[in-house]
Amino acid sequence: MAKPSQATWGGRFTAAPAELMLQFSESVSFDRRLAPFDIAGSKAHSAMLAHVGLITTKERDAIHAGLDEIRAEIEAGTFRWDVKFEDVHMNIEQALTKRVPAAAKLHTARSRNDQVATDMRLFFKHACGGLQEKILGAQRALLTVAEANRDVLIPGYTHLQRAQPVYLAHHLFAWLEMLERDRARLADVAEHANWCPLGSGAIAGTTLPIDREFTARALGFVDARGRAQVTQNSMDTVADRDLFIEFAHACALLGVHFSRMAEDLILWSSAEFKFVELPDAFCTGSSLMPQKKNPDSCELLRGKSARLQGNLHTLLTLTKGLPLTYNRDLQEDKPPVFDSLDQAAICADVLAGTIAGMTVHAARCAEAVADPALLATDLADYLVLRGVPFRDAHHAVGAVVRLAEKQGVALNQLSFADVRAVHAAFAADWQQVFDLQRALARRTGTGMPGPRQLARQIARWRTLLGGRKARR
Ligand code: ARG
Repeated sequence: MAKPSQATWGGRFTAAPAELMLQFSESVSFDRRLAPFDIAGSKAHSAMLAHVGLITTKERDAIHAGLDEIRAEIEAGTFRWDVKFEDVHMNIEQALTKRVPAAAKLHTARSRNDQVATDMRLFFKHACGGLQEKILGAQRALLTVAEANRDVLIPGYTHLQRAQPVYLAHHLFAWLEMLERDRARLADVAEHANWCPLGSGAIAGTTLPIDREFTARALGFVDARGRAQVTQNSMDTVADRDLFIEFAHACALLGVHFSRMAEDLILWSSAEFKFVELPDAFCTGSSLMPQKKNPDSCELLRGKSARLQGNLHTLLTLTKGLPLTYNRDLQEDKPPVFDSLDQAAICADVLAGTIAGMTVHAARCAEAVADPALLATDLADYLVLRGVPFRDAHHAVGAVVRLAEKQGVALNQLSFADVRAVHAAFAADWQQVFDLQRALARRTGTGMPGPRQLARQIARWRTLLGGRKARR
């Protein structure tokens, strides 16, 4: 039998693929990063083949030794990738077959369809773990800044208008909550990835007596009690790209969170706020205006979130019209996923670096939070405690605010006679409300920005983020 030009599938072909087709259809330029997972999958698969007697243990050992060699070459950068062999799977198999004759048996009871599904599930488990670590790094940087500035108060904003006073740490802890949900989401994706596709074949399994559970265990696709987890429908297994979408979604939402934090930092670092100074190392200057210091790391965090959303959209669109099961379109599923991982990971690092190097301008924060109007709600609460229905209290304080504006004085500078004239429930102690520390101390409930809650949250985050006491 003549050797076909394409050793893995060329048997029924008389002509080789066009050069243009090779260029068009290759994926090895990007899927080669799956090599470690592909090799792990092939080792587990060949171990299973030996276990059930489809190959000998000698053949298995030869395959394993050959795969180890190839992995070493890939790591050393000496392995020769060739677009002629399309993808990572065929590149490795061809290289293996050249050195190990038994490798011709490796693909027994396996298709690239269940192979690539397996590689990607291993990839997702790895990627989720890695990205969770990166997020943790950013969270720790935030905790450190929060603790170092734990006495700093700032105005909290709604509609970008000053609303009520909060500790800066309370604002930063809101970010920690967002990132904590991102970490949990990635943990869920890793959990969903934890099912072994091998044995599904191209679409309908195999007639050969394989042991799917053996392969699953060998690859770590097991539950908490060590029981093998194998996918339950061969057609779904090779068609399913939910994980790709879930992962891209987790990254897109993480990107949205980064973007919102970045936006706050951009505002805070402007001359109009000046709550913080961003580190030179994460800013750039202007080629024209010598005085400029631009918050580029934050602007790029905001910009990259668009890209992360784009990747999610690509995957949704890629899969929406596809008939079951595998279609070659699905090869396009990997670049957006890899890009999402790479961009999300570098975003987390850049956020951590920006936060770690940032200086808080405590004096500017104190100035901004000293605005007594921030405690207008507390003044309404004061009336409520004196028996005034909240709607009436709200209305009365509104009138007091209007009066202060008319007189051109701060809210707490009005005379007692003036406020008393607005509502009879105001007493001589009405100005006590404007004591900021007192106002914060009254916010005692869970989730509120009072000092006791702040201490609790610091302790909570120290535990959640690794128990390590953050440096001051
Ligand atoms: N490189 C291919 C991909 O990523 C592997 C699966 C190929 N399967 C096939 N039937 N051509 O989609």
